[in-house]
Amino acid sequence: MKLLENAYQKALVARKNAYAPYSGFLVGAAVLSENGEIYAAGNVENASYPCGTCAEAGAIAAMVAAGDKKIKDIVIVADGNDLIVPCGACLQRIAEFSDENTTISLADLQKIQKSYKISELLPVSFSVKDLKND
Ligand code: THU
Repeated sequence: MKLLENAYQKALVARKNAYAPYSGFLVGAAVLSENGEIYAAGNVENASYPCGTCAEAGAIAAMVAAGDKKIKDIVIVADGNDLIVPCGACLQRIAEFSDENTTISLADLQKIQKSYKISELLPVSFSVKDLKND
């Protein structure tokens, strides 16, 4: 639980450092890997709007850059009207590095409020098993 709390704290810092001048909506994400490492990022928007990246994408990229490949937990924090759930594209990104034990923890500025398994948020998805190379 301590590691998850650390991940939440890092997600909060990443949210504070997010670059979102266009939407004004700051998001932080922190991946806790199976190795116990934490990788955090905020959303990074761009004047060319479609070039912006979600917080989850940044955190996953940092995990992969460091050589980790398995998400134990990913904490996502925002200050919305409701708890925010990763967008469809980010669920797909998370699924790539998840297994049945992976949890997605949704947080507001006070604490983690809810946790889901990836299968609850993305019950079926495209995956490596669907690729056919002949
Ligand atoms: N955003 C994220 O970073 N993660 C999510 O899970 C949902 C949305 C960002 C994208 C954009 O920069 C801003 O929030 C508003 O959509």
